[in-house]
Order: sequence, then structure tokens, then C-alpha cells
Amino acid sequence: MDKYTLTHKQPTRKDFVDTADFDQSEIMDIIRVSQVVRDYIKGGGYLNSLFHKVLAMLFEQKSTRTRVSFETAMAQLGGHAINLAPGAIQLGAHETIEDTAVVLGRMCDMIMSRVDRHESIEALAKYAKVPVINGMSDKVHPTQGVGDMITIFDHWPEGKKASEIKVIFVGDATQVCNTLCDMVTKMGMNFVHYGPANHKIADEWLAIGRKNNEKYGGTCEWTDNPECLKGADFIYTDVWYGLYDAETPKEEYMKDFYPKYQVNDEMMQATGNANCKFMHCLPANRGEEVTDSVLDSPNSAAWDEAENRLTAQRGLVLYFGRVAEATLNYIKQQKEGKNAEEKI
Ligand code: CP
Repeated sequence: MDKYTLTHKQPTRKDFVDTADFDQSEIMDIIRVSQVVRDYIKGGGYLNSLFHKVLAMLFEQKSTRTRVSFETAMAQLGGHAINLAPGAIQLGAHETIEDTAVVLGRMCDMIMSRVDRHESIEALAKYAKVPVINGMSDKVHPTQGVGDMITIFDHWPEGKKASEIKVIFVGDATQVCNTLCDMVTKMGMNFVHYGPANHKIADEWLAIGRKNNEKYGGTCEWTDNPECLKGADFIYTDVWYGLYDAETPKEEYMKDFYPKYQVNDEMMQATGNANCKFMHCLPANRGEEVTDSVLDSPNSAAWDEAENRLTAQRGLVLYFGRVAEATLNYIKQQKEGKNAEEKI
């Protein structure tokens, strides 16, 4: 199968609410289209696959990366995105999520939303007739997960098989941790959540990871034993206070996580792997969950990871906009035409 061919010609579901709803082959389709389109655009190519298509971006929470990457993706693909910032529309005050979903679905071609509660993204998907993409809920962060997997592929340790790769998520089991657990195990790698017992990844996610292990290989575990750091290929962390919880006083969360779970030079050395890469979904609280020396080190993949949010969003809007296959065919034709011209 060449890189222009998809296993699934169309999505098996209308919406992208949770990576756990999709099998490995479909996630790989999304990643493949994301990578091919990235290379094409970076090589100077232009695409119009979403000409005249409109994405509504509904935010109940603040965002830098998710907002800018989706808006840029739509512009680069010939479409348009409308930013509906927190508090900017009738939602909440005078209108329900269900009615908002119906209305946005009547006017726009796709909806992306960052919601306070996961039930809201499920309601949007249920009531909108158009594709709905989850831009983060209190449960999962699936668009982050696609970008993260592309980043892991970009920084793949030379000569290693998936079953030999260890990805460790350090600290609080946020929604980013849940999605990473699903994605890493879905790709047949080994996943560890290394964090305190009172911020441990939910058993539900360990069960999802272990089910993936049965199908695709790899392992999935939680531990508070620092021995787990040995042999890590990727160390990943997120902020220590839940963005969705009532603001936790700093003294409280520092007591739980600091200094044991701070990703610093000592922790990176404890991996025993000079090539171990550091990842962070960002934004980071420098000096808390990660030190400047790690975030700004040559081993930090965090900035590539941020850029890959855009790589992933292009793939997602093309795939769920049902023009991924046509776009890959177009790029293939353009490439073949160029190659033929060069030979003449
Ligand atoms: N990682 C992430 O989702 O970033 P934003 O909150 O800035 O969108």
C-alpha cells in the first residue's frame, strides 16, 4: 500500500469525539493524510480541497494551539473558520447545547468544539447533522493525540520496532494522558503512567490500553516507582493542576508532585537513554512540571509537537470532511506530473 492509499475510503463515523472509537487502521489513515499534506504544503504546494467549506470553532475554554491550528488548516485548504470564543454566543445563557448544535449544523459544514464537559461534545455530535471534532473535553484530547503520534513517528528511534518503544507520561493523569494511553497502545508500543496514586490514570483507561495490547502488542501500566524511567524513549508531561477542576491551590498540587514528578535533567538522565525525547502538549508551567533546561534542550520535541497540531488538523478536517482520498489522489497526480516533466 503506497502513502496515497487509505484503508478506509470514508470515515466509519461522522464525528471524531474520542480516539478510542477508532481502530489502528483508521487512525493510521488520518495520520497518513496529515503527513502527505504536510509534505506537499511544505514543498510549496497549494490545496483547495475545502473550498467554500466553513468550520465553526466553538470554545467553552481558552486556547492558543487548537484555535490557531484549526483556523490555519481551514485557510490553507481553501475554506474558512469562524471563531466562537467563550461567552461570545447565546450558548449557556439563553440556548442549549442541543439547539446550538442544530443551528451550527444548518449553517456550517463542520464543527470543532472545546467543551467544559464531555457530555457536551457528545450532544453536539448527536444533534448536529455535520461532522463534529472534539477540540478537548474533560475526558480526552483526541486532536492532540493525533499530533502527538505524528511527533512520535517523526522522532522514531532508529532501528526500533513499536513493541520496543516505551512512552512514559509523568505527573497528573489529565485528558492528554488518557488519549496518549489509547494512542500509544493502539500503535503497539509500551505505555506507562508514572504519577502519584491520588492522581493515577483511571482503571477504565488502563483497561482500554490493555485491550489494545491484546490486539496490537505492547504493554500498559501505572506506577509510582521511578525504576520505570529506565529505557524510556519518550517522556511526556502536562500541567499539574486540572484545567477543568476548580482551581487547586498551588501548595496543594506542589505537595503531590514536587519534586518527584518534575521532568528535569536528573529525570531525563534516569532514563539511561541519551536520545530520550521530551514531549509536552503545552502550555507549560516552566519550573513546575518541567524545567527550562529540559523544555529548551535539543532533546525537546515539544515545539515540533506544537507544529504538528496543524499537521493533524489538516488531516482531520480533510478526513472527516470526506475529501481525504480525493486530496491524496490530487497530490499523487501532481507529483507524477512533476516527475514526468523533470524526465523530459
Ligand atoms: N495543547 C493545547 O490544546 O493547547 P491549547 O490549549 O492552547 O489549545
